[in-house]
Amino acid sequence: MQAEPSMQELRELVAEFRPNRGHVMPALHKVQDRYGYIPRVAMDVIARQLNTTPALIYGAATFYTDFRLHPRPETEISWCSGPACRLKGGDRIREAIQQTLEVPLGGESEDGRYGLHIGQCNGTCTEAPQVWVNEKVVGNLTVSKAIRLARDVKGEAE
Ligand code: FES
Repeated sequence: MQAEPSMQELRELVAEFRPNRGHVMPALHKVQDRYGYIPRVAMDVIARQLNTTPALIYGAATFYTDFRLHPRPETEISWCSGPACRLKGGDRIREAIQQTLEVPLGGESEDGRYGLHIGQCNGTCTEAPQVWVNEKVVGNLTVSKAIRLARDVKGEAE
């Protein structure tokens, strides 16, 4: 698992931002763009740089779904929660994947190898129901295809 960045590295990364509420989101985005997530220590560094509280930064980071607070797993399955996918059985797909991976929606394996997260419609509804595996669409799923996919991700032989 990747180590957290140092405070010095983070201070340099967010040095351009000034005490201003309008700088909270750009600072969080900059950190996430660099590391792929918002390390806990980054919230303290941003708070100090913007002369505010870590609680305010944490509140913003947890309120907006664009931010992740943990490193991305090696394989991330995003389950589409959009209406077309759900009308075509998306909930059964989610249940099958959850049961096979043995992780809840929003959860990850203990070793960080894979995770299952909620996604929003990306406009490719013709391939509903679908998931994205590391952002690549895997569409027209059936329950049995979803189970095979999850076993594959988990590294289980069929
Ligand atoms: S509803 Fe799932 S891709 Fe549009």
